[in-house]
Amino acid sequence: MRRKLAAGNWKMNGLTDSLDELRSLARAHPDPAVDILVCPPATLIAQAAQVCAGLPVAIGGQDCHTERTGAHTGDLSAEMLKDSGACAVILGHSERREDHGETSDMVRAKARAAHAAGLMAVICLGESLAQRDAANTLDIIAAQMSLSIPDTSTAENLVIAYEPIWAIGTGKLPDAAQIGEVHDFIRTRLERRFGPGAGRGMRILYGGSVKPNNADQVFRVPNVDGALVGGASLRAEDFSPIIKALSQTG
Ligand code: PGA
Repeated sequence: MRRKLAAGNWKMNGLTDSLDELRSLARAHPDPAVDILVCPPATLIAQAAQVCAGLPVAIGGQDCHTERTGAHTGDLSAEMLKDSGACAVILGHSERREDHGETSDMVRAKARAAHAAGLMAVICLGESLAQRDAANTLDIIAAQMSLSIPDTSTAENLVIAYEPIWAIGTGKLPDAAQIGEVHDFIRTRLERRFGPGAGRGMRILYGGSVKPNNADQVFRVPNVDGALVGGASLRAEDFSPIIKALSQTG
């Protein structure tokens, strides 16, 4: 009942030439069995949306402000992302929590702004290695969920990405039991908070070192509805086999 989602996070990578990767990606999946979302840097959103118009690749942003307009030099509102052709926005990525001091309260306000603008919010959660080693993972996830997810969330406008910080960009992949434990925990809490219907309909992605050679083992874990992919989303030849692996799992 949940449509699988392969989401790419280009982070601070990509110039105009990179739009060719989107063309190749769309060509490789003319009729995908899964949803495909690519979040390029904000400078490329409008062109990427044009390139992908009518093609099965949706475009998203990587952050937005909490306000609609105003004196916030250098920031972008959710409405601006939407106006540029984005349909989604990644929020609360650990790199933003770390580089920009984003708190879960700020993430919730941003997600509310995203929802008001009609964007789907992809809210990132995840523990550090120290937190995992101290057996605090589920407490951290619970706290991040309570504070980062706004009440405006529905099965259509909320996606959760579980991204253990120690797995991002490191090549270290949690084992299936570790991924499964957190995804099941998130599912239970979503159902408890939003009711069995909405809670069961919200998608939960895994993110952190997903590559073509490990994607199918991630996608076989119950309650994994797809992936948020960083490095391997930059080139169609890497992202494409991940999308294929997702479409081939139950
Ligand atoms: P990675 O990044 O796939 O390069 O580990 C994932 C992410 O940060 O979303």
